Amino acid sequence: MTDGYILETQALALAYGGFRAVDGVDLKVREGTIHSVIGPNGAGKTSLFHCLTGGRRPTEGSILFAGEDITRRPAHRRIGIGMARSFQVTSLFQNLSVRENLRLAAQGRDGDRALTFWRSVAEGKAHLALADEVMERLNLTARAGVAAGDLSHGQQRVLEVGMALCGRPKMLLLDEPTSGMGIDDIPVMTGLISELGRDHTVMLIEHNMGIVMSISHTITVMSRGQILVEGKPDEVCADARVRAAYLGEAA
Ligand SMILES: Nc1ncnc2c1ncn2[C@@H]1O[C@H](COP(=O)(O)OP(=O)(O)OP(=O)(O)O)[C@@H](O)[C@H]1O
Ligand SMILES: [Mg+2]
Repeated sequence: MTDGYILETQALALAYGGFRAVDGVDLKVREGTIHSVIGPNGAGKTSLFHCLTGGRRPTEGSILFAGEDITRRPAHRRIGIGMARSFQVTSLFQNLSVRENLRLAAQGRDGDRALTFWRSVAEGKAHLALADEVMERLNLTARAGVAAGDLSHGQQRVLEVGMALCGRPKMLLLDEPTSGMGIDDIPVMTGLISELGRDHTVMLIEHNMGIVMSISHTITVMSRGQILVEGKPDEVCADARVRAAYLGEAA
């Protein structure tokens, strides 16, 4: 790690055929911060997210995480060194309880070792303890025995973040965690992300400007695959180029 940055990309690019969805991105995320990436639809945010989390292999450039070059590392081997992304709602076990889902996520952290019979009793207890601790942070303890499929959509999304947390990550990457959420659930998710920012590095891709402006330390604005502007919320808010990018998209 250099100068307190946990994640650094250099000249990162991702092309789909001849189209460069990510086009020469130098991004630095400081450890212990909530760093948001915003930009109009199609700016390349999700494509960048896939490069960082290992879902897509960049066409060019490099990614350093905690000082290690992870550019060509598969997604599951990024988890092992402390990177976590939120799961999709569809990856929750709909018929299993909140507590069971979290326990399985805690168990998954240990990979194949969790299957070793003679370790399973002691580790099983540790997994449950971790699941219960995370459940408390999610404010879902009262719903411990409820099947994930019976939670509100918003609570399911909160549970997804919890599943990622069970991996005890150094850094959590979230792509639109509030998408499809009802207005009542959004403050819960916002509070959760803000709280997570106290002891994790969080990279947040989010369209809801109210959330982004209220909890981010740093905001990177992307447009057409490139970084347009980066700064503190008030700086980004006041930047005419940002406004023009959003207006240009709407025109
Ligand atoms: N699998 C793909 N194949 C070809 N083009 C793609 C693919 N995925 C995304 N794109 C294109 O790449 C560009 C960037 O898409 P991306 O999903 O990264 O944008 P985004 O910033 O996440 O947008 P949004 O805010 O709508 O989520 C868009 O023009 C999109 O149409
Ligand atoms: Mg996207």
